Amino acid sequence: MASVWARHGKLERHSLLLLIAIIIVVAIGGIVEITPLFYLESTIEKVDGMRPYTPLELEGRDIYIREGCYLCHSQMIRPLRDEVERYGHYSLAAESMYDHPFQWGSKRTGPDLARVGGKYSDAWHRDHLINPRSVVPESVMPPYAFLADKPLDYRDVADKMRALRITGVPYTDAQIAAAQDDLQSQDDPTQSQRSLKSHYGQKVNVRKFDSQAGGPVTEMDALIAYLQMTGTLVDFSTYKADAPANKR
Ligand code: HEC
Repeated sequence: MASVWARHGKLERHSLLLLIAIIIVVAIGGIVEITPLFYLESTIEKVDGMRPYTPLELEGRDIYIREGCYLCHSQMIRPLRDEVERYGHYSLAAESMYDHPFQWGSKRTGPDLARVGGKYSDAWHRDHLINPRSVVPESVMPPYAFLADKPLDYRDVADKMRALRITGVPYTDAQIAAAQDDLQSQDDPTQSQRSLKSHYGQKVNVRKFDSQAGGPVTEMDALIAYLQMTGTLVDFSTYKADAPANKR
């Protein structure tokens, strides 16, 4: 034992020797942490339910980004008790895997929006976006009333999906070819939903999101469709962290 301490004492008394030893030890730690990442196909656990956004939700997300909603709202529920009790299950990496760019955010002037889908009615969102103070008197959120009057310009939605496909979002040729039709039918319950549901599943919300029946597809429609979808794709009543079914 004594000789070990003696040798270690030598190391501690020579700063250059100690520095070299530190660099070697830190390098080993770094290699152990970093090399597995080159061999893993993906560091994101796959979970059931995640799907690429519908064309309408995708346009809504672009409006969310254009209007800078992320400057006041995060979309990442941390695994801390107060957050989980307030917002629901903590966010999974897979829930952001089709987000380019992701919307985790770093500022919370308003609440986290990762699971706002289904929390309020469409009419609440409409009133809130038109004038936040009409439903939350103490709100400091700015109004976005113009979104209700502005028809959505979705001529390039298929191109957006093509661009996302390059980044790894698995849009199929059929989904891209039907983009405009699927967008219109999600906002109009009187149209056939066969194509939309075959492309995005039976659970997709279909309705006139801005409550202006018969009107054109507005930016408000797209934004509310997007908000009502956030955090609802994964079914947490059946989700178990570490379950083999979630690790495909
Ligand atoms: C200047 C900061 C700010 C900006 C920008 C902002 N918000 Fe908010 N937002 C707030 C605050 C503060 C609240 C909490 C009070 C309230 O409900 O109005 C809030 C609340 C919300 C809520 C209700 C959340 C809940 O769980 O109760 C939604 C939904 C929402 N905002 C959506 C949006 C959208 C969509 C945009 C962009 C079009 C946006 N916000 C832009 C500050 C902001």
